[in-house]
Amino acid sequence: MQAPRCDQTAAWTALTAQFAQSGRRFDLRPAFADDATRAEAFSLSAPEVFADLSKNHWDAETRGLLLALARECQIEQRRDAMLAGEPINHTEGRAVLHTALRAPRGAAPFSDEVHEVLDRLLAYVEQVRDTATSGIRHVVNIGIGGSDLGPQMVVPALDAFAHRGLQLHFVSNVDGHDIVPVLRGLDPRETLVIVASKTFTTQETMANAEVARAWFLAGYGEGGEAAIAKHFAATTTNVAAAAKFGITTTFGFWDWVGGRYSLWSAIGLPIALAIGAENFRALLAGAHAMDCHFAEAPLEANLPIQLGLLDVWYRNFHGYTSRSVAPYHQGLRRLPAYLQQLEMESNGKCVDLDGQPLPFGTSPVVWGEAGTNGQHAYFQMLHQGTDVIPVEFIAVKTPCYDAAGGTGLPDSVRAGLADQHHKLLANCLAQSQALMLGKSTEDAMGETAPTASKSLDALTIARHRTFPGNRPSTTLVLDRLTPAAMGALIALYEHRVFTSGALWRINSFDQWGVELGKALCSQLLPRFATGDTDGLDGSTAALLQRLLG
Ligand code: F6P
Repeated sequence: MQAPRCDQTAAWTALTAQFAQSGRRFDLRPAFADDATRAEAFSLSAPEVFADLSKNHWDAETRGLLLALARECQIEQRRDAMLAGEPINHTEGRAVLHTALRAPRGAAPFSDEVHEVLDRLLAYVEQVRDTATSGIRHVVNIGIGGSDLGPQMVVPALDAFAHRGLQLHFVSNVDGHDIVPVLRGLDPRETLVIVASKTFTTQETMANAEVARAWFLAGYGEGGEAAIAKHFAATTTNVAAAAKFGITTTFGFWDWVGGRYSLWSAIGLPIALAIGAENFRALLAGAHAMDCHFAEAPLEANLPIQLGLLDVWYRNFHGYTSRSVAPYHQGLRRLPAYLQQLEMESNGKCVDLDGQPLPFGTSPVVWGEAGTNGQHAYFQMLHQGTDVIPVEFIAVKTPCYDAAGGTGLPDSVRAGLADQHHKLLANCLAQSQALMLGKSTEDAMGETAPTASKSLDALTIARHRTFPGNRPSTTLVLDRLTPAAMGALIALYEHRVFTSGALWRINSFDQWGVELGKALCSQLLPRFATGDTDGLDGSTAALLQRLLG
């Protein structure tokens, strides 16, 4: 029997009634005051990740109804279908098997192919990382979207585990301002260029790859053509196109790996080069542990599923249109950008699996910045703005600046750094507290505000210093940002996106929405040579003339 869409279930009807009756007025403050066990009751542990879900707008009844909703939408059967390799990406007729990329040998579909490439890739990685022999000191990854964002996010996150003699660079944009400053400082003889593209046809990546090749040949001098074999590698499903480009060192993957789910495949080559084979395997193992949790934990204890349910609750009942991600770890500064593709490319859809228009909202806008930096930019709006935006905090208990346990700096700086870490964590907790507690006008009246204008009356000032509070947040806690923890964290997000997508009954694994712009770009490009504006709308014609004028 076909799984129903979330809004066609009895649980949805019950949630609608519950929201109207009490859910919309839910207040975190009395909820905590009335229940000493709330923090514990709404916390979950998954591999490498502890989650405090208690500062969210739900109670036991809401959670029970959301779990019933998941069951009615057959979330377990749909999850199992994905894990078994059924072609759930039905508009492209493809399986969705990024989980197979991190499964132990023999444990998932396509295991032989996956482990053959992984073994070969990691052997290559160790050769390149032997920098005294390879002579490679810089790696330039050229790719965009899923062929860029995962590695670009993970490499700084795992800086503590990185090879100190190998510098990683990422070029994605077709704008020459991206590649020029990267190549300017590099010596081709010390550089490995990776051309990362699932399709090996993406305009931006192909254009940058051509520039990199021209730069390489110009700088290398005699023997440059032959040296491409050593200094260029490709990671792609289109090995033939890579060969045509002249790249002979190629690591393949498969059409059942979606671009935004591909960092576990050969696309992870820059990560493996940075952190080494053993750590890359640990990253995969961490993700696999989260896969097992997703596959086996009952819904009542299943973290990715409960996060997905909260997403549906907020988007479709509370009407919140965005979610802010605040990782309190500078290494995770690119996580919001990575999640933008993961969530918004996956679930930014307006029709269901049958092509029927959806009568409710789907992907929220996902955005954010590393804490504490975000506090000094947009947190004002989170605290006192007119929109309620659920915030997701990520805290890491123990810092590791260097895998060996040191900092790489003189010992005398250690004490100061320990203090800094406590400052970081205190800020993280203070923000979720402030969002929840708020401050009444009455309390603000009782305080002195030394910087407030003396020309305004006390009540007006107090109103400006009032915080509505009751703003929801989730806090994820990791012990250390190790490769295994990183793997688990990313897999957690992948499965959460699957969950909301499954409830909405959309195809989370295609991305037709990026095609129209690509097609129009190909039609416009020749006009930049000719200046021809015939048949264009007035605005586009005028802009083209202005840009060419
Ligand atoms: O933006 C669309 C998209 O197809 C993404 O899904 C993908 O990650 C990106 O382009 C890059 O594609 P490719 O890896 O084929 O170059």
